[in-house]
Amino acid sequence: MSWKNLYADRVGAMAHGDVAGMLKLSERPDVISFAGGLPDPNVFLLDEIRDVFDAVFAENGKTALGYGPTKGITSLREWLADKMTRSGRPAKVDECLVTTGGIAALDLICKVLMDPGDTVIVGKPSYLAALHVIRSYQGRFAGVPVDERGMQPEALRSTLEALKGLSVRPKFIYLVPSFQNPKGVTMPGSRRNRIVETASKYGVPIIEDAAYRDLRFEGEAPPILASLDSENVIFINTFSKIFNPGVRIGWITAPASFIETLTLAKQGQDQCASTIGQYAALAFASTGLIKKQIAGAVKTYRQKRDAMLAALEKFFPQNAHWTIPEGGFYTWVTFSDGVDTDSLLPQAIDEVSVAYGAGPAFFYDRGGKEHMRLSYSYVPVSQIEAGIERLAGFLSKNRVF
Ligand SMILES: Cc1ncc(COP(=O)(O)O)c(C=O)c1O
Repeated sequence: MSWKNLYADRVGAMAHGDVAGMLKLSERPDVISFAGGLPDPNVFLLDEIRDVFDAVFAENGKTALGYGPTKGITSLREWLADKMTRSGRPAKVDECLVTTGGIAALDLICKVLMDPGDTVIVGKPSYLAALHVIRSYQGRFAGVPVDERGMQPEALRSTLEALKGLSVRPKFIYLVPSFQNPKGVTMPGSRRNRIVETASKYGVPIIEDAAYRDLRFEGEAPPILASLDSENVIFINTFSKIFNPGVRIGWITAPASFIETLTLAKQGQDQCASTIGQYAALAFASTGLIKKQIAGAVKTYRQKRDAMLAALEKFFPQNAHWTIPEGGFYTWVTFSDGVDTDSLLPQAIDEVSVAYGAGPAFFYDRGGKEHMRLSYSYVPVSQIEAGIERLAGFLSKNRVF
């Protein structure tokens, strides 16, 4: 059977398997992988999580093993509504929908909003799995540069204006305003206001992805975009980085009428998010254990960020530039024009057993060859310096610097 002859057009749009490639590297202990954005499993409070699951089984075992409501269990949605309210976006329960993680939240939104050929505005660069999802709905992209302070508001305005001139109404703007994936940069408050105002002026909704927001190492957190405009900003978040990705639980907060339509679509996606995962997430969150785990995670990732920045300072030359993240998992390195991080990657894995995220994976047009994403979250702190030293040796041998 020639399966390829049967494939839908959208499979062609999914051409690049960067996400799966990065996750696969986690199974190669011989490789120091700065590629995937994986949480450090040592931050998981294993004993406490075991106790949480035991309690869920003891108290709600039969219910937790069954199907749950499509919108999510009410007690978790109540907790989410309260968390959102505390974050500055007052929310009611019917404005919160539990999803099977953060990327499934975006997939669900695309399922409701996107027809083939629709345009979506994304950052240059952007989170690669988000690009993959949008591609799978046969979307077109319009790109707005992301600098050291996030997406540029003036460039967003001119892009929206240019699209308007072409009678193209983009379906939404996808953004990661805090500790952006892949650049690690955070949009300051003043810029958030401008982005929200511009999007609202052109009548284009924003999808705000806050996956790393709770992992702040220092400084004050700027407001979430959803707190600046609760009508036009759809907020998505995940328990993957603050609890664990294994439970596959995330959520969407949006106006209630939109949540209703998402719920309709979710019936054909997965019917409901993992019921046992929801009970566990709720118990972990409502007993305060999540705060304890986040505090430990912040300490661990801060130490790793510091080790990464110190190693870059020591082994990378002056003409390479990298971002200084105040939280999250990533720094973004820029080399001089002409460097091709994409073609060097297989060689780096083969020759020095070090992997990184090659720039083009994060650009919808496969540009950005002169960049690489380095994730410090997963590699043990003791291996960060050695990995960067090996990578620097490899890059210098290949005349990158
Ligand atoms: C910006 C961003 N959003 C969403 C996710 C995915 O979350 P989940 O694992 O819950 O699907 C990630 C994971 O890397 C991410 O970086």
